[in-house]
Amino acid sequence: DDSFQAKQILAGKKIVITAGGTISPLDPVRFLGNRSSGKMGIALAKAALVAGAEVILISGHIAVSLPNSPSLKNIKVETTEQMFSAVKTAFLGADALIMAAAVADYEPVNYIAHKIKKQDQGDELKIYLKETPDILKKMGSIKKANQVVVGFAAETNNLLENASKKLQEKKADMIVANDVSHGVFGSDEDKVMVLRQDKTTENITETTKVEIAKKIIVLVAEELESRKV
Ligand code: CTP
Ligand code: CA
Repeated sequence: DDSFQAKQILAGKKIVITAGGTISPLDPVRFLGNRSSGKMGIALAKAALVAGAEVILISGHIAVSLPNSPSLKNIKVETTEQMFSAVKTAFLGADALIMAAAVADYEPVNYIAHKIKKQDQGDELKIYLKETPDILKKMGSIKKANQVVVGFAAETNNLLENASKKLQEKKADMIVANDVSHGVFGSDEDKVMVLRQDKTTENITETTKVEIAKKIIVLVAEELESRKV
């Protein structure tokens, strides 16, 4: 879209975007993971670059190729802890954070430093998990008045109720509510609604991740514009 490019709505802005899934290693050869392809995060990074932003892309496991641009810095991470630490540093000097990553909510209580052997386990293997840090919630709680924080809400049921809870509890400026009850993972298509503080919920009519990403970037630019004093 030429007009989108021409307007350079994010010129001079620094945007941190997370993409893909984080993993929780069990032993040197195994991990717990999720079905994220990273397509939405990459589409957001591309749209932000086209809009003139400087982008820091913090990527977990992704199944698509990264954009190549002098305005893009990519930081690859594996675990939620690593993503948390990279986001914390990047967010300090950023105008906005978009948490499109599918962040692993739990990780093993004990990482086993050697390959888990069947002969040591018998016919049942118990794995105890503990919660990982909630990156979005932490960033929402430390953001400055001029910083915009966007999260996603992946839900299979009670979409709006759960998404609006996330908007409040994580102190996000915007939540992109995503119905993942059928065929979103790895797909080029998606269907979302946008929830914002003190604004009515907006139904996004676009249906491809690329078009939805552009729409989200326009909303982020508007939000940043409204913070100007
Ligand atoms: N998120 C995060 N850190 C986590 C978990 C999630 O930053 N440890 C972010 C995601 O990137 C997303 C938002 O929080 O932007 C919501 O993620 P989601 O998985 O939908 O919600 P959770 O808060 O993890 O709750 P649940 O999975 O139980 O629905
Ligand atoms: Ca989660």
